[in-house]
Amino acid sequence: MSKLIDAFGRQISYVRLAVTDRCNLRCQYCMPAQGIDIVPRKELLTYKEMYRIVRVLTELGVNKVRLTGGEPFARKDFMSFLEMLSYNDLLDAINITTNGALVSKHIKTLEKLKKVKTINLSIDSLHADKFAKITRRDVFPEVYKTFELLEKSSLNLKLNVVVQSGFNTDEIVDFVALTKEKNIAVRFIEEMPFNGKGQRNTEEVWNYQKILNEIQSNYTIVPLASEKSSTSRNFALEGHVGTVGIIPAFTRTICNDCNRIRVTSTGTFKNCLFDDGVFNLRDFIRNGASNEELKALFLSLIKEKPENGFVAEANRKQGNVSESMSTIGG
Ligand code: GTP
Ligand code: 5AD
Ligand code: SF4
Repeated sequence: MSKLIDAFGRQISYVRLAVTDRCNLRCQYCMPAQGIDIVPRKELLTYKEMYRIVRVLTELGVNKVRLTGGEPFARKDFMSFLEMLSYNDLLDAINITTNGALVSKHIKTLEKLKKVKTINLSIDSLHADKFAKITRRDVFPEVYKTFELLEKSSLNLKLNVVVQSGFNTDEIVDFVALTKEKNIAVRFIEEMPFNGKGQRNTEEVWNYQKILNEIQSNYTIVPLASEKSSTSRNFALEGHVGTVGIIPAFTRTICNDCNRIRVTSTGTFKNCLFDDGVFNLRDFIRNGASNEELKALFLSLIKEKPENGFVAEANRKQGNVSESMSTIGG
């Protein structure tokens, strides 16, 4: 079987698929208050097209898909799509990144879908008022309910906390404290300048080291051997059942072991979070491409994968990375 191996010998086994660009929240770091211009429905990939793209990719060695958005649960019939994807016997895991506001009623069904293994829940504050300030929506009680239900469920749970200077840095210790009794992975993410507005002052960013210092000044932590291509550096704490991790998303020290590609909701193929998209799969498919042609396309696109996010950013034709994370797909 041909595998997706890039020019730097990295094998691609993970695809991040954005099922929609829409979102029911308006997080400050992701988009402006009025939201972003959403694309017309006919420009979105259909679920059938997404299934096919994933199927072809799995025939080239991809074994893990992460469904993102926007908010994946905000797209109509998302649960049916999950069921459909579960029929792909070449997939080991279907994981989902969600804001949790539309999830609680689906948890029992999610548990039954055996390939759905891990839910990454975005939650940046444990206080309703601050949560509302970050997300510009008053949904903390529902998200917290989802958190508690997921924690009790058979699904693995990771919390994604985007560390925002002057906003939630005082809550880092409280998030770590959750891991004492709860079997969860709390992951602190360096904030990236994808807020739909333009570049941020990089000095403001709480980077990996600063987050680590904050944790270490309150807790004794022990490094864990993470999966090679994991985005997070993970740590255990004595007497805690859960773990903590830090994702150096902004400083990009994870690129050497990158195993991922991305497909946006409109079918743009991205070799890197920081490139501006290298091919439109939707038009290729709608113009009648066969699976063999798709395969050949993926094998050639992958050879263009940049060495790291800095190179990808430098090669962009559309200037700085300033679009919203909800169109990039996280
Ligand atoms: P796991 O599969 O559980 O490791 O999740 P993940 O970290 O790959 O995905 P998730 O959707 O939870 O993303 C967490 C953070 O990592 C988000 O801020 C993503 O944008 C960021 N992230 C994911 N992939 C990359 C990447 O390739 N490069 C960079 N710089 N950041 C990434
Ligand atoms: N910087 C870092 N992480 C971000 N996310 C969204 N926008 C940003 C940003 N500007 C996170 C979300 C979600 C994941 C897909 O990406 O919180 O957990
Ligand atoms: Fe929505 Fe996620 Fe963007 Fe927040 S970060 S507005 S939850 S897409």
